[in-house]
Parts: sequence; C-alpha cells; structure tokens
Amino acid sequence: MARRSGSGGVGLKRLLESKEPERRTAEAYRRLVRKHYDGPAGWFTTVTGVFTGHEALAGRLIGPRAFDIRGCKRILDAGCGNGRYLRILLKRADPTALLAGCDLSAAMLRRARRRLRSERPLLLAADVSHLPFKDHFFDAVVCGWVLEHLPDPVLGLRELARVLRPGGKLLLLTTERTIPGAVCSRFYHCRTIRRAELRAACAAVGLGWVRELWWSRFHKLAKLGGIVVELRRAS
Ligand SMILES: C[S@@+](CC[C@H](N)C(=O)[O-])C[C@H]1O[C@@H](n2cnc3c(N)ncnc32)[C@H](O)[C@@H]1O
Repeated sequence: MARRSGSGGVGLKRLLESKEPERRTAEAYRRLVRKHYDGPAGWFTTVTGVFTGHEALAGRLIGPRAFDIRGCKRILDAGCGNGRYLRILLKRADPTALLAGCDLSAAMLRRARRRLRSERPLLLAADVSHLPFKDHFFDAVVCGWVLEHLPDPVLGLRELARVLRPGGKLLLLTTERTIPGAVCSRFYHCRTIRRAELRAACAAVGLGWVRELWWSRFHKLAKLGGIVVELRRAS
C-alpha cells in the first residue's frame, strides 16, 4: 500500500495526512502508537466515537444482516481498543463462543475490561503484526481502525489471514484516503489507505472481498466513514 497519487485533491490529502508512519523506523513508530493510546488520546476515543457516531452505529455492523457471527466458535477483536466491538460481540456471539481481544496498549486493555464489566473475553497485550495464536484458530476476526497504525499494513493483513480458518470471515475497518480521513490521521498519527490498494493487498494475502458495508445510507451516499469491508479467507 504505497503512497501513490490518485486524482482530485490528492495534494491536499497528502499535505494533511500524518507523516509519522513514514518518518520513523517500524519500532519507533510502534512505540509512538502505544504511547499515544496509553495516554489521553486513547481515553478520548470513547468521546470522539460519540461525535463521529461510531459508538452508536457500531452495532449495525455486526448482526445477521451485516457481519454475521452466528455459529462462530472463536472470535478475535484484533486491536480491540476500549472494547467498542467486543461489547457487541459479547451480546451477539453464541453463548459458548470464545471471545478474545488484543491490543498494543495496556491502558486500552484496562479501559476495555472496565467498560465490558465481564471476565468472559480473554484480553491480551499483543501486536496485530505478530499475533500469539495458532494458524487457522479463529472463525471470525474484527479489526477496527488498526491497519492504518501498522508499520507494514500488508504484513498485518497476512497475519489476520493466518489466524483465520479457511473460509473464516474478517470485518475490517480502516481510514480511507479522503480529506476527512487525512484529518483524522493527523490526530491518530496514522496513515490513510486507498480502497483499490487495500482490495489488491487483501487479494494478495488470500482475503476475498465479500462486500463493503456502510454505517448508514447517508455515509454510503456521501462516501464517508472510512473503508468497512467484510472479507473471507480463501479455503
Ligand atoms: C482507533 S483505536 C480503535 C480501537 C477499536 N478497534 C475500535 O474500533 O474502537 C486503534 C487501536 O489500535 C491499537 N493498535 C495500534 N497498533 C496496534 C498494533 N500493532 N497491534 C495491536 N493493536 C494496535 C491501539 O492501541 C488502539 O487501541
């Protein structure tokens, strides 16, 4: 996922976009991201989620008519943050399903545990680029707004594909290369991703593009809200 130019507004998007992922070494960038989310920015994700609507709309993405987790026995939220999606997984997953969440930031994991008020999900500190799980372990994975924080997003996609069983499903949300996306990237010190490049990278690691999802009709019409896509690991 190179920083290649596209059409209209490209200069402005590039100008606005955070340069941190390319300015630092992989290790220094990872440290920056961890420190950022350990601190007030991590706490702030709950507040921003209220304004962006992500808190209220998250539930629309997971369910029988969207990302359907019925029948999934092992589900991972990779980069679970404060537990926004784990909260929904807890409500909608089969009662016997194993739920796990991981994050680079220990503070985010503590926030998630407090928020969930449940000991059921296994929460662990781990890097999405090097997941501590066996190949093909999960039936479903959710990965929200994490890929854009990885030093090498393709490596991250490969890792997500590795832990999914053949035919397993992935709900991936990521910051798109748009002007609002570039503005957000500044605050979160992350990159933005072009939809066509993401699609090609997913295909290259064996993740088939099932369908694009949108937060609402408004988001779909206005092409807002980032890239939200359901993927399926090749059998
Ligand atoms: C914008 S928050 C999103 C959190 C959650 N997925 C959500 O949608 O509410 C990004 C999260 O990704 C985590 N993160 C960033 N880089 C990561 C990495 N390499 N491995 C695991 N987690 C990472 C951050 O610590 C942060 O909690």
